Amino acid sequence: MNKPVDLPIAAARFDEDSNCSANPTFDAVLDARLSRRGMLRGGLGGALAAAFGSLSLAACGGGDDDPAPAAPTAPTETLLGFTAVAKSVADAFTVPTGYTASVLIAVGDPLFAGVAAYKNDGTDTDYDKRCGEWHDGMEYFGLSAAGARDDASNTRALLGINHEWVTQAFLHPNGPTAAPRPAAEVDIETACMGVSVVEIAKGSNGKFAYVQGSPFNRRITTLTEIQMSGPARGHAKLKTRYSPDGTKTRGTINNCGTGKTPWGTLLTGEENWTNFFARNAGDNTLRTADENFALTRYGRAPGAAHAYAWNTVVSADDKYARWNTSVTGASTDGTDDYRHEINGQGWVTEIDPYNPTSVIKKRTTLGRMAHEGAAFSKPVVGQPLAVYMGDDARAEYIYKFVSTALWSAADANATDRMAVGDKYLDSGKLYAAKFNADGTGTWVELSLSNPAVANYTSYRFADEGDVLMHARIAADAAGATKMDRPEWSYTNPANGEVYITLTNNSNRRAAATGSQQPLDAANPRAYSDVYGGTTVQSGNVNGHIVRIKDTGANPAATGFSWDIYLFGAESDADPKLVNLSGLTADQDFSSPDGIVFSASTGLCWVQTDDGAFVDESNCMMLAAVPGQIGDGGPLTLTYGSTAVTTQMGKKPTPTTLKRFLVGPVDQEITGLAETPDGKVIFVNVQHPGGDTAAANIADPSKYTSHWPGNAGYGAGGATARPRSATVMIVKDNGGRIGT
Ligand code: FEO
Ligand code: CA
Ligand code: CA
Repeated sequence: MNKPVDLPIAAARFDEDSNCSANPTFDAVLDARLSRRGMLRGGLGGALAAAFGSLSLAACGGGDDDPAPAAPTAPTETLLGFTAVAKSVADAFTVPTGYTASVLIAVGDPLFAGVAAYKNDGTDTDYDKRCGEWHDGMEYFGLSAAGARDDASNTRALLGINHEWVTQAFLHPNGPTAAPRPAAEVDIETACMGVSVVEIAKGSNGKFAYVQGSPFNRRITTLTEIQMSGPARGHAKLKTRYSPDGTKTRGTINNCGTGKTPWGTLLTGEENWTNFFARNAGDNTLRTADENFALTRYGRAPGAAHAYAWNTVVSADDKYARWNTSVTGASTDGTDDYRHEINGQGWVTEIDPYNPTSVIKKRTTLGRMAHEGAAFSKPVVGQPLAVYMGDDARAEYIYKFVSTALWSAADANATDRMAVGDKYLDSGKLYAAKFNADGTGTWVELSLSNPAVANYTSYRFADEGDVLMHARIAADAAGATKMDRPEWSYTNPANGEVYITLTNNSNRRAAATGSQQPLDAANPRAYSDVYGGTTVQSGNVNGHIVRIKDTGANPAATGFSWDIYLFGAESDADPKLVNLSGLTADQDFSSPDGIVFSASTGLCWVQTDDGAFVDESNCMMLAAVPGQIGDGGPLTLTYGSTAVTTQMGKKPTPTTLKRFLVGPVDQEITGLAETPDGKVIFVNVQHPGGDTAAANIADPSKYTSHWPGNAGYGAGGATARPRSATVMIVKDNGGRIGT
């Protein structure tokens, strides 16, 4: 979710900024011609893009499996062969000419048999049986015709879809009721979040549709029982009235980035969960100094409010009381209240999508933070697995987990997938990244084996489970580098380099004071930009993308090399301090967030979640042909008497970076899954119309978006309430996406 630089999206008020530690803040064009098996047919892209807004959907046609006429010559395709989509503020989803986009599934669509069609007028209920809200990270899990796992399937699959927040205004007939909240409204909102697992299958028209009533369909919500796993399982700081032995909790919250394990399960990252826990004023007087330090470091000072006031429902039902993480009972261990409830969130949670009744587990080895993506190193037999992760808040860190177990190829296809998760994800070491100015870096260990952690005086870690539960504090102690809001991570399948988006940081300054962060080599920009003609935004306004590679391509290495792949910027911005990547009007972007590599084409897809450039264009997705670390060189930026030297990747060219799509108004583009053949991709549109004021719910003319109703999807038409949705994109000539 975008909680940046001061845009009035409803949740922007939850921007977290709780890291007050004293840590340093730290060519050739690739040969783009590839042969492929498919037959090219029809004309290649023209100058106009194909929008699917209010009128154009009917003009879109053609599935990707239509029979192709015989081609006279051997087919070739060119990566980034499409014509760039122009920046746009239209309320439409626009893809290049020669491509077709259509909605696959939107919030509220029924997942199970017997559930009514979505009315989209605020009166729908039963969201635990419908597709959730605020679609985010997403993974594709192939299914055979017989219903077994089949990683190669291009025709049948399960999608695992994260649901991050809700737009309250559109979920109720007249918007949300103020606190004390009615139980019925809260029951809707709590059921809208979490994860959807939904079957999709290609029909006779060659297009995917989701399968209502599939036995694989599953909704995991904020109330689903989940087991704690790994070193923190059973920890004293996880004991609650619901789980007196600290071994389980309810729900997964604010699910943002995803990961896919080499054994075929979904990892879902819990991001801004802290905002879902109220804490009473005066609760600090009932807590130890360490408890107060930890709660504040994770954004819950006394008096903190719940984002949606779920805790204010007047009811004896624990499912509401749990959202207040204060001391309310008389016990000394917390087994009679929910003082520890907040510690049950903030983890990477593993789900086996192929087994709708399987136990779900929070893998505590991966640390507790505002999790985004979880990117695996390329599995190598006999080596450990590494998982690379970002913690999205200003001045937070990049992390790496290294498994104790060494990779065995047989585990890739084991049938008890959660047992494989136990093997690789319940034991290992957690590290945080420290970037050096010379293009090297160090993974600093977060454990009591590190004296800086063991001897930290601001917070006394009780044990290794406590270190994981408070990984941010351990990273403070270990001297990791404060980054410009680390978002998603993804491993380039071609060379194992890990790309991590740093979306922006309104607190970065050349001359930092107070809670601001000074420049460093890995976070080298601070500048001002005008938004909407008058508003000045400052800091690292547009974000950048860093890439790292472990020394010797060894996932267990404690050293790495790095550079900055791309700097977000407006194309007309100062080329010496802002538009360092030399972006053109076909390439400029702001606030990179989602990042995914295609396993088919090798393209790097970059998605934006922005509040700095949306006066000129809605959020978007770009396609890139990536290079490698070191393909650029050192670059020194001069700010008055201050100079900062960074490591910069090779600048993109028109054939290595190009805008592929622009979404509707007030949304972010997020999540990307593809069929193994690369011919269908799925992307999510999250919170279209999200800036609509709840006070305007009775007047559709004041909604900032009507998508996808205005594109002909679902009820409501041109005045519909907007809906988060998964969009399917195909190339009309049957080719791979991005060519
Ligand atoms: Fe949910 Fe930081 O993106
Ligand atoms: Ca995001
Ligand atoms: Ca601007």
